[in-house]
Amino acid sequence: MRVLHVAVEIYPLVKTGGLADVVAALPVALAERGLDVRVLLPGLPAVLDGVVDLKRVIRLGPAFGAAVITLRLGRLPDSGLLAYVIDTPFLYRRDGNPYLAPDGRDWRDNHRRFALLGWIAAHLAAGELDRDWQPEVVHAHDWHAGLAPAYIAQNPALSTATVFTIHNLAFRGLFPLDHHTDLGLLISGANQSALEFHGQLSFMKAALVHAKRVNAVSPTYAREICTPEFGWGLDGLLRDRGADLSGILNGVDYSVWDPGSDRAIHANYTAGDLGGKKACKASLQAELGFSGRANAPLFAVVSRLTAQKGMDLVLGALPTLLAGGGQLVVVGSGEADIEAAFRAAATAHPQAVSVHLGYDDALSHRVIAGADILLVPSRFEPCGLTQLYALRYGTLPLVRRVGGLADTVIDATPEHLKAGSANGFVFDDAGSRALATRIGEALALYRDPSAWLQVQRRGMAQDFSWADSAVRYEALYRSI
Ligand code: ADP
Ligand code: GLC
Repeated sequence: MRVLHVAVEIYPLVKTGGLADVVAALPVALAERGLDVRVLLPGLPAVLDGVVDLKRVIRLGPAFGAAVITLRLGRLPDSGLLAYVIDTPFLYRRDGNPYLAPDGRDWRDNHRRFALLGWIAAHLAAGELDRDWQPEVVHAHDWHAGLAPAYIAQNPALSTATVFTIHNLAFRGLFPLDHHTDLGLLISGANQSALEFHGQLSFMKAALVHAKRVNAVSPTYAREICTPEFGWGLDGLLRDRGADLSGILNGVDYSVWDPGSDRAIHANYTAGDLGGKKACKASLQAELGFSGRANAPLFAVVSRLTAQKGMDLVLGALPTLLAGGGQLVVVGSGEADIEAAFRAAATAHPQAVSVHLGYDDALSHRVIAGADILLVPSRFEPCGLTQLYALRYGTLPLVRRVGGLADTVIDATPEHLKAGSANGFVFDDAGSRALATRIGEALALYRDPSAWLQVQRRGMAQDFSWADSAVRYEALYRSI
């Protein structure tokens, strides 16, 4: 079965969040099952630099405002998987964040930049671009690739199976409606309601309407987005899709995230011998300039610093965390006011709070290995990957009961502790008081080393690799 994955991000070349980790790992897991998988990426500078042996497949243009568009084919640096790259400097030769200009605003031509991605996918599906390879399944990720199913559906000659994965419904890919004239999309009559969202053009809606199957990245999120609370105005449409909507949990690439082999951390370790984790913690505390008390519980945040992630809750619960003798390290970037508040907390408590604004992959590994507790108090969380990484590293996740966090973290209640199923801490209310209460309870468990060790070992032994989820994706492809 020939499958084309279409996305903007792919680790390690382009990454702003978990999407990149998924797009790097899922195609490989599918290829390991014998599927013939390729990836389609926009030719951002890091992609053109990172994909090896790029050869020209076809030259097109002018289109989407670009004079020339060259489709190239090469190999991904780590996996060796084949990747098509859309090389058009006019639209993609821009460094930094793939979506935002240096002034922090969306690029003005984002509708063209991402429509082109879907358009190339549709023409590959039609067999018009590469005579040697034509996908039977086009699997598009998030709104950026959302027009792929729409362009395919608008070509009556095509029967390509389309799958669309929602990584985050909050980003709906909205543009002024009249921009559709730049995109070669038919909008009229019934078609209009398929692309229009309250007077705007929505790439997300286009995908949700046109893809043969839609899935979200965890079973709980797939249910939540059918409710007004989590549906961003698209819940009615999602309810109407009925059995076409499913939830498939993301996996972890343990070749990148495993404390037994991770080369970014101070010392390797396993569940059987956690000595290396102690060394990782001591080295991290020294790096952060904390008074190196081995028995001070070390809390961590590795996250986009946004309201989605509940970062204001962390700030609100900070006094409780510090009063309990805890330390906090934050690695992330995001909204200016949250960044400023964390910076102020670090200035006020230099011995116990350390804040690293920006993206730092190696530091994120050192932090997840060295910390005792990872805080993920999200307001909504489609899947969440850091809690899964933390579990493998013997770092207990403390999460809000929402989306993929609810599907993967089992609260350390007395019953779950007794049953041996607890792997972290869970709280319900999206408020800093509820978070503070759970932090207090986590601190109490921390003072009981044998109970703590049991919870650590439970999480480390769990298998969240891609194998199971790849089976589910393959079944989804076969069903259409
Ligand atoms: P989301 O995609 O919503 O941001 P996920 O938990 O799915 O959340 O994935 C976040 C990914 O981004 C993880 O791989 C995490 O380690 C990484 N990450 C987040 N912030 C940073 C940062 N500041 N530096 C390095 N990696 C980060
Ligand atoms: C999104 C979600 C996150 C998910 C990731 C990968 O960015 O916010 O929860 O883990 O996509 O699917």
